[in-house]
Amino acid sequence: MDIKSIEKIVSLSKRRGFIFQSSEIYGGLGSAWDYGPLGVEMKNNIKNLWWQEMVITRQNVVGMDAAILMHSKVWEASGHVENFHDPKVDCKNCKARYRANHIDLSKPCERCGRTDWTEPRQFNLMFKTEIGAVADSGDETYLRPETAQGIFVNFNNVVTTARQKLPFGIAQLGKAFRNEITTGNFLFRTREFEQMEMEFFIKPKEARKWLEYWSQQRLEWFKKLGVNPEKIRLRPHGKEELAHYSTACYDIEYEFPFGWSELEGIADRGTYDLEQHNLHSKKKQTYFDAQSNSHIIPVVIEASAGVDRAFLTCLVDAYHAEEVNGEQRVVLKLSPKVAPITCAVFPLVKKDRLPEIAQKIFTEIQTEYSAFFDIGGSIGKRYRRQDEAGTPFTITVDHQTLEDDTVTLRDRDSMEQTRIPVEKILINLKNKLHSN
Ligand code: GAP
Repeated sequence: MDIKSIEKIVSLSKRRGFIFQSSEIYGGLGSAWDYGPLGVEMKNNIKNLWWQEMVITRQNVVGMDAAILMHSKVWEASGHVENFHDPKVDCKNCKARYRANHIDLSKPCERCGRTDWTEPRQFNLMFKTEIGAVADSGDETYLRPETAQGIFVNFNNVVTTARQKLPFGIAQLGKAFRNEITTGNFLFRTREFEQMEMEFFIKPKEARKWLEYWSQQRLEWFKKLGVNPEKIRLRPHGKEELAHYSTACYDIEYEFPFGWSELEGIADRGTYDLEQHNLHSKKKQTYFDAQSNSHIIPVVIEASAGVDRAFLTCLVDAYHAEEVNGEQRVVLKLSPKVAPITCAVFPLVKKDRLPEIAQKIFTEIQTEYSAFFDIGGSIGKRYRRQDEAGTPFTITVDHQTLEDDTVTLRDRDSMEQTRIPVEKILINLKNKLHSN
């Protein structure tokens, strides 16, 4: 049986160069993580698959990329200054900070064992920052806590330039920041993270239809990442869970080792955001509806996913520890679409012209797929390394290659090796990728 735990995933991530602790040489910065050479490739694959699905293959969704820094009035209008709070309590003895609704205040502090709490207080989750050289309140703003507002404040710009008619969407990928009181579970809840958000503008009466449509579409997208469909579900929100702007919402959840947890929210935000910006900016945020010959404020259906949570889901879901010939093999059974390296190339030994032939094959594969060349160590160890990196295919050049121009192609999951002609390597990879 697979042994899955977040600690094992953290350790493999570091060992293979997926994720490193931020500022590690200075003792690390809590709940901030750096993506290493394999991590950045895999993260880019996930982001590209999202962009492909949400923008490139759709006629009625366009993309954009707003600045992280926005006018402070945006956050007043959006309600984040007033409403984006969590109730927190501090331990007066050791100063540890907790979310008040996550702990029992009649019990002692987990960290120091004393029961001496402050009164619960509201804590705004936005990071404040100052713009410019002069520190006065006029230049204060916040690091964006969601990318969505960059879309709303550009609604008019997109309507007048992109020639879209309702219903249509605007999609954006980018960093967001929240000064979370409790973080943890590796990449799951961090203070700096990336979001993939799409705001879909519709006529008011169509809200239910589009909420259902996008919920299903988004669920299918996660399944296309190769995630076990039994561990992923759509859950409607109860009224008490809804965010300040939302009237109905679904969560897409994955069953992590720490329980079912949210990957994405699909929400009916109503006309809240455009109305607020209408009011605060005094610039009309409306759409001219030719059918009714009137200016309307569209309703918004939002699909908001976390890149880091999608990444963690892929890692956790792919992690397998199995016994092979009496030895333990750790393997990431990542979908080839997500895997950081598609194909590794090994010469069996460092002599007899095998490295030169392997190098040539590697260069050719690299023109189409992400590839990795490894010459050092026993062939068994090299296979194990690629298994842990989640590399679905490996080509090995051996002495038979010198005789008949064939190589072995090894499949990561079955470990089966088949002999194929050198000239058929690319077509073989292509066929395998298509069948996955
Ligand atoms: N614009 C709506 C919005 O931001 P949210 O439910 O607060 O909604 C959307 O966030 C998604 O962003 C979440 O489903 C999650 O995947 C990701 N996310 C939110 N806070 C996060 C955090 N502290 N760390 C990592 N990902 C986070």
